[in-house]
Amino acid sequence: PRWPGAAPPEDAGIDRLRRAARSCEGCDLYRDATQTVFGDGPDDARLLMVGEQPGDTEDREGEPFVGPAGRLLDRALEAAGIDRSQVYVTNAVKHFKFTRAEHGNRRLHKKPSRGETLACRPWLLAELDAVRPDLVVALGATAAQSLQGPEFRVTTQRGRLLDLDIEGAPKPYRFLATVHPSAVIRLSGDEREEALARFTADLRKAADAIA
Ligand code: URA
Repeated sequence: PRWPGAAPPEDAGIDRLRRAARSCEGCDLYRDATQTVFGDGPDDARLLMVGEQPGDTEDREGEPFVGPAGRLLDRALEAAGIDRSQVYVTNAVKHFKFTRAEHGNRRLHKKPSRGETLACRPWLLAELDAVRPDLVVALGATAAQSLQGPEFRVTTQRGRLLDLDIEGAPKPYRFLATVHPSAVIRLSGDEREEALARFTADLRKAADAIA
């Protein structure tokens, strides 16, 4: 295989997958990251959410969406009436990719490549198969394209209930894409409020879909 290090054990539950993913060397990102950040949440969750990759905070703490993007996600989930403790939250890529700032030692997020996303995809599919949620929500283009293919556009498809066909799955999953919470954080003033309102509205559609 092209990515020999990225081979999740077959038919494994979440705990076994999480343990196996600790030693993944399926792409080079494990070299500089602190640790694998695997998904978190109930293994019988009806809603599974997929982000891009762990950020600086997640890399240090070992859990997804616990930094600034996670706080914004928490706010939006609450506004949409979704209990985060009932959601399985994960990422398309499970190691933090970063560059060092020229001055100082700050670690700056770098978008994962298509190759890195593909290398990590077997883990995401294994999580899907272990959880079998009623609805998959992709946060941002990396997650949406990992699942729906590189032609998928969040800008035109966001907030729509779609099917997600996964090879080998007994039936298509229901799927909804929206923006990444970091895209909201990057804005300010009215633009930010508007983006947050749209993000929350998309999450409300997700809540309605599983109500
Ligand atoms: N951004 C993501 O996409 N995932 C995280 O876990 C944190 C920030």
